[in-house]
Amino acid sequence: MIKKCLFPVAGYGTRFLPATKAMPKEMLPIVNKPLVQYGVEEAVAAGIDSFGFVTGRGKRAIADHFDISYELESQIAGSGKEALLGTIRDLIDNNTFTFTRQNEMKGLGHAILSGRSMIGDQPFAVILADDLCVVEEGEDSVLAQMSKLYNQFRCSIVAIQEVPMDEVHKYGVIAGEEMKEGLFRITDMVEKPPKEKAPTNYAIIGRYILTPDIFEIIESTEPGKNGEVQITDALLTQAKNGCVLAYKFKGRRFDCGSIEGFVEATNYVFENFYQKGKG
Ligand code: G1P
Repeated sequence: MIKKCLFPVAGYGTRFLPATKAMPKEMLPIVNKPLVQYGVEEAVAAGIDSFGFVTGRGKRAIADHFDISYELESQIAGSGKEALLGTIRDLIDNNTFTFTRQNEMKGLGHAILSGRSMIGDQPFAVILADDLCVVEEGEDSVLAQMSKLYNQFRCSIVAIQEVPMDEVHKYGVIAGEEMKEGLFRITDMVEKPPKEKAPTNYAIIGRYILTPDIFEIIESTEPGKNGEVQITDALLTQAKNGCVLAYKFKGRRFDCGSIEGFVEATNYVFENFYQKGKG
């Protein structure tokens, strides 16, 4: 079973400046909860209880969020406001949170490699907190859907979504053989291709399950797109030597790394969760 999850959170969040000048982009709230907490809750719903954050300078607020705040808690103890801290306090009490720093910005592959000591030799999940994934009430979280697939196939899995051809240049894009509806065995992957070079319009979104041999593959992966070590390139090597699956997940994904996606997510969560008392 997948028990560990990595969050690469060292990125700058330049698209949200000035909001992210002194605050990590992963702490931007969707209604009343920071983005990163949605990711952690999705993972907990998949049975994960151990979290590793690959952070960078200026990201201390994330570590503080997943720690007890004695002053605040004692101040509001016994008041009606205590319940507002309920969701985060539950996460803190029932999971472990570990932090390490990525001191150079050399790409997502490099960020994942920087988390190696927190993972060890076991399969693990990766969540990019910018991508907020929601499912219908009672359905498995996106990571839970992927974790079930992992238990069946025992290989790395990426979540995919069809996007308009005009947007493929923003994503890692896959090609594959469809094994059953919505599940592909990957034959090709390209990081952020121009539209004319994209093999399909199946875009990778920020949910991965990786087998631990990926670390050694990343180590021998040359920098690719934008001079960065890309997880997409490492996964293509893994796919060629063995098997990597791409899974068209059930649910909705919001690109909260863009202003438009962030606003859309805010409205969606407000209407579908917060107002119905599920916030
Ligand atoms: C990263 C990955 C890309 C993936 C995307 C999903 O890119 O490199 O393959 O499609 O996340 O959000 P980024 O958005 O960090 O540039």
